[in-house]
Amino acid sequence: MTRESGGSGPDLSTQVGPLELQNPILTASGTFGYGLEFAERADLHRLGGLVTKGLSLEPLAGNPPVRIAETRGGMLNSIGLQNIGVDRFLDDVLPGLVGLPPKVIVNLFGYDQDDYVRLAERVDPHAGVAAVELNVSCPNVSKGGIEFGHDPEILCGLVRRVRSATGKPVVVKLSPNVTEPAALGQAASAGGADILSAVNTFVGMAIDTNARRPVLSTVRGGLSGPAIKPLALRIVWDVAREVDLPVIGIGGVETVDDVLEFLLAGASAVQVGTALFRDPRTAERLVDGLRDRLQTEGVASVRSLVGAAARQE
Ligand code: FUM
Repeated sequence: MTRESGGSGPDLSTQVGPLELQNPILTASGTFGYGLEFAERADLHRLGGLVTKGLSLEPLAGNPPVRIAETRGGMLNSIGLQNIGVDRFLDDVLPGLVGLPPKVIVNLFGYDQDDYVRLAERVDPHAGVAAVELNVSCPNVSKGGIEFGHDPEILCGLVRRVRSATGKPVVVKLSPNVTEPAALGQAASAGGADILSAVNTFVGMAIDTNARRPVLSTVRGGLSGPAIKPLALRIVWDVAREVDLPVIGIGGVETVDDVLEFLLAGASAVQVGTALFRDPRTAERLVDGLRDRLQTEGVASVRSLVGAAARQE
């Protein structure tokens, strides 16, 4: 038995700014639907948190196919934020998640700043939502999102407006497709963000050598999976040192060692994404694996690991 269930094993709970999670393993936006679809394929109760697919004010159909391509060590996607819209999520899905142990974080996407504000206002009265994650880093839409995540001044202004529209903790999901992601993290902090999540996907592409044309209908897509882990880890390391906000690490998390690396680099929790496509139970397996590893190593608490590699320098 673990402390999660009242026993005396390692304490897996973690504090991410205002959020206390039962363990540091969350599912990443766009990789686990809205959560409920996976209730029969995974044990939702075991997650530290789940981040919904990006939600917009109106439902979106997303980009035309082909919009997924497997690569060596990763996956390219260009879904284009297909989603059911915030109202349907709040009315039909959220009630099924309320009362479960994982914290529900709602990922929000807007075409302009007013959209983000209206989305935050819609979500604000719902007690079942633990936090909002601002998607200012999706590389797959021609308008909105990333426009706000690549300019520190614009990002700061957007976060400030969302901050005053909701009392929920505000998570800002950083783009890796800039020279200095930490500078964007500082801008988000200045705007009043509570937490940073790092990172979204890296812009890439693939070419079908037989058809002699790009694989994805949009040519470019976002690369995720193990291939990006060292890149994401470096960014989390930088952001954790340069920005005075807690960080959730994202990028190719698949094994317990990956989780440990992100924690040691300074992340207080991680999001698992691409690995869920192969095995929807990856997140809960990581919870078990992390507990076993800490038990074996005599580590009493996940919290003692956060940033520990930086303290060794
Ligand atoms: O295309 C997509 O829906 C991806 C979204 C994201 O990377 O944030």
